[in-house]
Parts: sequence; C-alpha cells; structure tokens
Amino acid sequence: MFHLILGVIFFGAVYLLLVETLFKKSSCKGRREMSGKTVIITGGNTGIGKATAMELARRGARVILACRNQQKAEAAISDIKMATGSTDVVYMQLDLSSLKSVRSFTETFLKTESRLDVLINNAGLVADGRTEDGFGIEFGVNHLGHFLLTSLLLDRLKESPEARVITLSSMAHRWGKIDFDSLVVNKDLGTGRYSWQFFLAYCNSKLCNVLFTHELAKRLKGTNVSCYSVHPGIVKTELSRHVSLWQKIFIEPVAWLLFLDPTTGAQTTLHCALQEGIEPLSGRYFSCCAVQDVNSRAKDDAVAKKLWEVSERLCGLS
Ligand SMILES: NC(=O)c1ccc[n+]([C@@H]2O[C@H](COP(=O)([O-])OP(=O)(O)OC[C@H]3O[C@@H](n4cnc5c(N)ncnc54)[C@H](OP(=O)(O)O)[C@@H]3O)[C@@H](O)[C@H]2O)c1
Ligand SMILES: *[C@@H]1O[C@H](CO)[C@@H](O)[C@H](O)[C@H]1NC(C)=O
Repeated sequence: MFHLILGVIFFGAVYLLLVETLFKKSSCKGRREMSGKTVIITGGNTGIGKATAMELARRGARVILACRNQQKAEAAISDIKMATGSTDVVYMQLDLSSLKSVRSFTETFLKTESRLDVLINNAGLVADGRTEDGFGIEFGVNHLGHFLLTSLLLDRLKESPEARVITLSSMAHRWGKIDFDSLVVNKDLGTGRYSWQFFLAYCNSKLCNVLFTHELAKRLKGTNVSCYSVHPGIVKTELSRHVSLWQKIFIEPVAWLLFLDPTTGAQTTLHCALQEGIEPLSGRYFSCCAVQDVNSRAKDDAVAKKLWEVSERLCGLS
C-alpha cells in the first residue's frame, strides 16, 4: 500500500513537471487587426497550420492555404468556412519539394493577389527521401523551399505597412548542426538510412529555420517587415506519420497523455502574427507565446550568413 501511494505521488509529480515544462500550454493575447489583410500559410491543410488558418480566418483575414494536395486543402477549407463563417479562404497549389513549384506558386500569387501581410512558413515533415531537385527531403522542404518562397515574396511583403514572416522551427533545432561540406557533397544536411538519422536531419533543418530567421531580420532592417521563428510545443498532429510502427507504439500513449492539441499548438504562431509591438524582437525565437533565448549555434552570425548565401546558390538566385 505504501509503495502504491509512493508510486502515485512519483508519477503525479513527473506528470506535473512535464505539464509545466515540455508540454506547457499558452494562449495568444494578440489583437492586431486582420480584416483586409492577406495571409499565406504553407501546409495549412492539417495539424498546426490548419488550426492557425482557422483562427486567422475567424479574425477576418484573407487566408491562402499553400498546399500540395488540392483535395486535402479543399476539405480543410470547407471545415474552416463552416466553423468560422469566413468566405475568404482559398487554395493555391504549392509543393515545397519542387523549386519549380515554388516559382510557379509565387508567379501566380504575385499576378493575382495585390497584397501580402503575413507569410507563415509552416509546412514540414520528418521523412526519408529526396526532393525533385535531389535535395534531402527535410532540408529541401523544411528549409530550402521556404527560403526560395520567402525570397520571391519579399518585395510584396515590403509593400505592406507592417508585414511579418513566421517560420515554424522546433525545440529539436537544439540538436541540429550545419555541416556545409556534407551539404555540398550530398545536397543534404545529414546522411544515413536509419530512422534516428532522419530525426537528426530533421533537427538540422529546424536549426536552418532559426538561422534563416536570424539572418532575414538583419536583411530586413529599415523595412517594415519583421520575422520570427517558432517552437509550437509538442503537438498531436500528422507529423509522425512516417515513423515506424515500433516508434508509434512508444509515442502514442505519451501523445495521448501529454501532447498539445493543434489549437493549443497554434498559439505561438498566432502570437507572432497578432501581438502588437513585438517588432523590436524581429529575428528571435518564440515558444509558449514568449521570446526565448537560443544557444550560441542558433544565433551564429557567420553560419547564418553562409547558410543564406549557400541557399541562394542552391536555389539559383545567385
Ligand atoms: N507536431 C509537433 O509536435 C511539432 C513540434 C515542433 C515543430 N513542429 C513544426 O510544426 C510545423 C507543422 O507541423 P505539424 O505538426 O502540423 O505536422 P503535420 O500535421 O504533418 O502537417 C504538416 C503540413 O506540411 C505539409 N507538407 C509536407 N510536405 C509538403 C510539401 N512538400 N509541400 C507542401 N506542403 C507540405 C503537409 O501537407 P500534406 O498533408 O499534403 O502532407 C501538412 O499540411 C512543421 O514545420 C513542424 O516541423 C511540430
Ligand atoms: C514604414 O511604416 C511607416 C509608418 O507606417 C512609414 O512612415 C514608412 O515610410 C515605412 N517605411 C518603409 C521603408 O516602407
């Protein structure tokens, strides 16, 4: 009996600790006016992106879901319209694993839409494989596709009175590293066929997201565009769809007990989109609706600059 009580107290304490740290919830208090504004959300058809789209549509923004699968996107759009009463949510085809698709997306967007106020680089995956252009899929989709997308939309963002670029990173960026030699040789950050190696490649791509935002903020000095990177929390979504059955068996019970739901997982992205007065924090990393410090590797000026220049070359921008 005594052991049982001790056990309950122990697991209760661990649970409370986790709920206050790794799995902490937060809620966006921002009130920036969204009606009349246009937002692009990549991968807005499910998970955190869909929950973000839902709230921005509710607040009256014109929301463009930039997705690779029309059917899934149209299904999400009808859910969003139904739940919010918005009539201003549209689909535009974008496959971030193809630089050609990124270019044709931006071409269409710039031709048909007159303004862009918030760009949310949300799409991401943990998987094995290569992009159409031969890059490692995680580097290619999570970083490079968004790098090109943002670059090609920058002039339009600068025309908005107070535009923002929000890029979904992850706390997993802490385990990432940028090996430029490997990038040149393998067109990827990380190699190997084991699932922990895909996870490391994911961490590397998420470090790219933080460094990209760090460098972008410098390049945006003197404009009215600000930018932020985000850890959304650990959220129950489709992100783990490619992990092995064994890992799923391990993850599922923890997910059920502790993971945030997508609406809660969207709060920090929403904070960066909607909170007034955070422009002086441009370039910084947010989690739980607050700015957070990152380790020195995630704000290394030289590495961030080099990643930018290498990315430009890989996209054919320079
Ligand atoms: N869930 C978490 O615990 C967690 C933690 C830290 C960071 N994040 C980050 O949060 C972001 C959103 O993830 P999530 O958890 O909401 O995952 P999710 O449910 O798997 O959603 C990911 C979205 O990205 C889209 N996508 C994937 N590859 C794409 C491509 N080549 N072109 C266009 N869109 C593509 C997916 O589209 P399809 O449906 O067509 O595949 C989907 O809409 C990601 O950047 C992820 O790294 C998540
Ligand atoms: C930024 O916004 C302010 C106030 O709206 C405006 O006066 C200024 O011209 C803008 N700057 C640029 C570079 O567009």
